Amino acid sequence: MPTEYLHDVKCSAFLALNCEKRGTHTCSKCRLVRYCSKQCQEAHWSFHKKDCKHPYNRLDWKPAWIAENRSPAFVGGDTPQSHFGTHWAPEYLWGNTPAANCLQLDHNEGVLESVEKDFNLCFAASGDIRNLVMTVNGLPDNYRGHCKILLNDRSDIVTTRNILILYALLRHGHPLELAAETAVHFMYSAALRSSDSSELFHCIKTVYGDVLSVCQSPMFRSFITRLSPNDMRKKSFVIRGAGSLSIAHSAVKLFGEPLAMLRATHTLKDSRKAMHDVMLSPQRVDYRDRYLSGLQPSHRLSFLRFRESGVLLPFADVVLETFQHPNRLLFTASGKWATMDNANPLFSWDVNEVLKTGQAHGLDHADIYGCLFVHVKAQFTEFARRVEKFHIDIHVSQLDAHVASGLLQKGELNPALFGINPTFDRIETSNMADYAGIPSVLQDWSAVLNRKNKHAVVFVNFMNWVMKQRGASLTFDMTGEGMGLQKGLANMKVLLEKTSSMMGINFRTLLVNGDIQRAPAFYNVLENVDVFLDNHKQFQDHLNSEGISNTPKLYELQLRPRNRIYPKRFGVALGARPDALPSVTKTEFYNIYLIGGCNPGDRYLEFGLSGVH
Ligand SMILES: C[S@@+](CC[C@H](N)C(=O)[O-])C[C@H]1O[C@@H](n2cnc3c(N)ncnc32)[C@H](O)[C@@H]1O
Ligand SMILES: [Zn+2]
Ligand SMILES: [Zn+2]
Repeated sequence: MPTEYLHDVKCSAFLALNCEKRGTHTCSKCRLVRYCSKQCQEAHWSFHKKDCKHPYNRLDWKPAWIAENRSPAFVGGDTPQSHFGTHWAPEYLWGNTPAANCLQLDHNEGVLESVEKDFNLCFAASGDIRNLVMTVNGLPDNYRGHCKILLNDRSDIVTTRNILILYALLRHGHPLELAAETAVHFMYSAALRSSDSSELFHCIKTVYGDVLSVCQSPMFRSFITRLSPNDMRKKSFVIRGAGSLSIAHSAVKLFGEPLAMLRATHTLKDSRKAMHDVMLSPQRVDYRDRYLSGLQPSHRLSFLRFRESGVLLPFADVVLETFQHPNRLLFTASGKWATMDNANPLFSWDVNEVLKTGQAHGLDHADIYGCLFVHVKAQFTEFARRVEKFHIDIHVSQLDAHVASGLLQKGELNPALFGINPTFDRIETSNMADYAGIPSVLQDWSAVLNRKNKHAVVFVNFMNWVMKQRGASLTFDMTGEGMGLQKGLANMKVLLEKTSSMMGINFRTLLVNGDIQRAPAFYNVLENVDVFLDNHKQFQDHLNSEGISNTPKLYELQLRPRNRIYPKRFGVALGARPDALPSVTKTEFYNIYLIGGCNPGDRYLEFGLSGVH
């Protein structure tokens, strides 16, 4: 990581005591604050004490259901409420899988061989911008080709956020690093500094000024009724470098929630309350505590700071007095918090990498959300630098993926950029196959895959199959019945022990020591008991029921025997055998599944061109 990214690790007494020196040694009890000297540390103790001595920071902290001697809410009873928000929730404003570099040149075209190559990349149901960012950062450092990118999502909120975040990052104006910092707050922080807030309004004005003024005109109602559902509002913007940023958004939709959300006027106080009502909801305490009980004490504290402040920054840098403006990109038009209570930005990045970046910036592992801040900022900075230096065009569209594919095939989706016969070298389809099925995803996307590039691929993620396929999960089927009872139970015992040992727990001791139904460790083990489960056959059965043996052939595609873009399941190496099981250290286990929230059941498949090996 280039040194100019170095985060300025201030002495944590900077605010209370006006110290301007660098923080060089950490508080040994929490490792979340850093001081220039013993004197500063001692003088600051009266401020820091409350955090450092917080119950979360104690090894003997217990979830509320234990302290209150009751069963946790997620056991039995009513179906738990999994999200808050309005009728259009849940929206995936923050993704729930780690960011993916969809190029992975060293496993495909080769890095050196790609310096002059043109690439067309498609994110068909993109969610946020993280995969786009990671993929551009995966181009060769001295890239001289032309890269064209389609970033599509059917959600108008997701699209509006993406375009404003991208525009803030890429417009001429702020130095890269400042722009990156602002973009990180646009994406993840509930409140903004004055400078970020003015930047947001500047971006809103440039991107949506014309349509916002229509909203205020007396002719608005008749204007709206004249719009057809197919009317797209198209616009393109001048950005850093040789490339362009353009957008096509359904006009009817744009005039609904997105513009209302950007024009909202709720106060900071109201918005903080709306965020807390969801992110710290008392009804959801057991769900939070279940996650927290798997974490190290300082990580619980770091989590709490992020949830309470809503600001993504290193622990000691969160100074609420400077974050006084609600971030309109995270609240609905009616002022509600716009994402689910289990949304967590740590789930969208590779935590192993997050910690490395944090360390390179002088932050301790304990400050996990601080590490995340510097990591995302570094990725955004690098991305903007590349857009400035390389030739990259980005088109953001707000369409159902099926419609997007149809328009592409007819040469009607931004033909000025993609031409009338567009094809792509990488097509990332998120987990649409979960809902639409493999046949429909392949039918839509094989038609626009670049047949001239033997590395071209349609990339498919499965998140829901374990709930549909018998024997696919011990978390959802504790009896192991689906596997054949004998085999299931035998498996269960081995896996419970293996998973427990990864978490430093002795499962036998857990069994003998009292009320297992309440033991938080039991739930952490149970949630992750599928990590090492060999359910290759069950996955294959699921794929067969989805027509995997015939469908790819219909479209002159084949399922790659080994992945070359993203490991088939978390914890296995890229290119491993298709039935490979995760092989991780205890630290990796913690980073991937416990704090990183990766789903043990997620699977990634790659469909390449037939006849190519
Ligand atoms: C499928 S969701 C799942 C979350 C995903 N795992 C992530 O980490 O972002 C991702 C995105 O796909 C979008 N999406 C879902 N179905 C779509 C469709 N048919 N066409 C276009 N976008 C779609 C959603 O709006 C959402 O932003
Ligand atoms: Zn401390
Ligand atoms: Zn100091």
